[in-house]
Amino acid sequence: VFTPVILAGGKGERFWPLSRLERPKQFLCLDGSDRSLLQATADRLLPLANGWDNLWVITASHLADGVRQQLPDLPDANLLIEPEGRDTAPAVAWTTLEISQRHGPDAVVGFFPADHWIDPPEAFHHTLHAAIEVAQRQGAIVTLGVKPTYPSTGYGYIEQGTPQGTVKDLAAFQVARFTEKPDRPTAETFLASGRFSWNSGIFIFQAGVALEELKQYAPELIQQLQQEGVNAYPHLSKISIDYALMEKTQRAAVLPVSFGWDDLGDWNALDRLQSDNTSPQSSNVELGRHIGQDSQNSIFYNSNPDELIVTIGLEDVVVVRDGNATLIVKKDRTQDIKSVLKTLKEDS
Ligand code: GDD
Ligand code: MG
Repeated sequence: VFTPVILAGGKGERFWPLSRLERPKQFLCLDGSDRSLLQATADRLLPLANGWDNLWVITASHLADGVRQQLPDLPDANLLIEPEGRDTAPAVAWTTLEISQRHGPDAVVGFFPADHWIDPPEAFHHTLHAAIEVAQRQGAIVTLGVKPTYPSTGYGYIEQGTPQGTVKDLAAFQVARFTEKPDRPTAETFLASGRFSWNSGIFIFQAGVALEELKQYAPELIQQLQQEGVNAYPHLSKISIDYALMEKTQRAAVLPVSFGWDDLGDWNALDRLQSDNTSPQSSNVELGRHIGQDSQNSIFYNSNPDELIVTIGLEDVVVVRDGNATLIVKKDRTQDIKSVLKTLKEDS
């Protein structure tokens, strides 16, 4: 069996004020459909899981009710609740231990971010079938590589190593090097070399293989979780799986992906997702009540049907009205929402 796990404990702060502490990015519908990113992720994974009995979700305690509401068919036994987020290494390690106990060390497990846009599902499923085969046949930790388009410093970079043949029409490679969130000059070098892809954040492996590797590279984490289970959480260090395991393991493989992928990093992603709602003359994205005059290349989002937003003569801005908050930001500064929120804790 293949056991997909959705990583749903993140904050997604850069979509504030739509995203809040108890309503992070994965709970939002950003593509104009009525399914949230989390629900769309589950929809996409169900055919691979063969139904709800074998789909898992790991989240933080303050988000558990939201997950149950959004995924009412998820069995209780498949919902792991972290007392508080410790980043993805503890989440991956704990879930892998639990699945290994239930299904044995040969079970193939996949980890999937809850907050990505992926399309079309058929290409995604095809890639996953290939990844599962590579994980099983080679005992590899399989990553899915996305073709990079600019020197982003927000992604992991995967360098292609020795070719490992073709699986279901997809070329597999050994990972020569994995570098998480490099600085700008390094990212530029990686991009220019043509040998690197972005890490999509999806990982596929046999439970036993990942546990062996974690025992080697994150021995304390595994030991603490084995001894204390979820009670270990307050003592666990905050670290992502990318730093804790992927930068260190020699057993990683990469499959270049053939589906459309977007990590929806901030408000600007709406330009890419909402092309249907973009008016061609002004290139604005408009969701909710807004009247604009001579505004261009901007994003207007109004959650409140009783309120009206009026703009005149704006260019390259994002305006968001939700609940008790309004955000107005230049498009090239949307990444800075995170740092403002630090000063706003009680409200974020
Ligand atoms: N359960 C749980 N607990 N989930 C978490 C936690 C946690 O403590 N922290 C984050 N997550 C979830 C997020 O909700 C998201 O779905 C996923 O794990 C990835 O976490 P992010 O915090 O969004 O990671 P990132 O975007 O900085 O980087 C990762 O993804 C990139 C692609 O989007 C890395 O894997 C990069 O290498 C990769 O390029
Ligand atoms: Mg992310």
